Amino acid sequence: MKFFIDTANLAQIKEAKDLGILDGVTTNPSLMAKEGIKGQEAIYNHYKTICELVDGDISAEVISTDFAGIVEEGKKLAAIHPNIVVKVPMIKDGVKAIKWFTDNGIRTNCTLIFSAGQAILAAKAGAAYVSPFIGRIDDSGWEGTELIAQLAHIFTVQGYETEILAASIRNANHIIKCAELGADVVTSPLESILALLKHPLTDLGLAKFLEDAKKTA
Ligand code: E4P
Repeated sequence: MKFFIDTANLAQIKEAKDLGILDGVTTNPSLMAKEGIKGQEAIYNHYKTICELVDGDISAEVISTDFAGIVEEGKKLAAIHPNIVVKVPMIKDGVKAIKWFTDNGIRTNCTLIFSAGQAILAAKAGAAYVSPFIGRIDDSGWEGTELIAQLAHIFTVQGYETEILAASIRNANHIIKCAELGADVVTSPLESILALLKHPLTDLGLAKFLEDAKKTA
């Protein structure tokens, strides 16, 4: 399973990269706004900086919602760097645009996936990734990881090449469950990635080893 970081924060991207486990980055308009990045030029420059920082797929989201606008915007985003993956929302014109991008050699990540039906449509249109939002499904009272299991089964049975990119990760257990259920990629905030490191018995065990090491110095 590949690890992407779900942020536009350069310090956090660097920290995950320095850990040596980072395969890519996902962003969205909310994450860009959180960093205070304003205006198309600044946003495109920020994507370029991220692409220069991380050698992997970088998802950049369109904000248009009509076919012509999505295609126009997606072409501009794809031109920023060869590693840009155009992130397109799961709407009717989005599916049409994903097919257009597929036919024209531009890779896409279909975002805002909340059902197997939506994921099947995106895969049929040739999306490189589908992004099921498991945390938001949990927030609405359902079990987000059940969708990952369902998609892993369907994509295997159908032989889809589209990768399942588990998104809207809220904690370390989400990452572990996604690995167990067969997600191809998980995109996560830095906090949840770092939480994978933690176990109280590791801390206790290390303290004891270091204490005993003093006896052998
Ligand atoms: C990733 O592609 C999504 O934009 C992101 O994971 C959404 O996460 P959230 O539900 O925490 O906003």
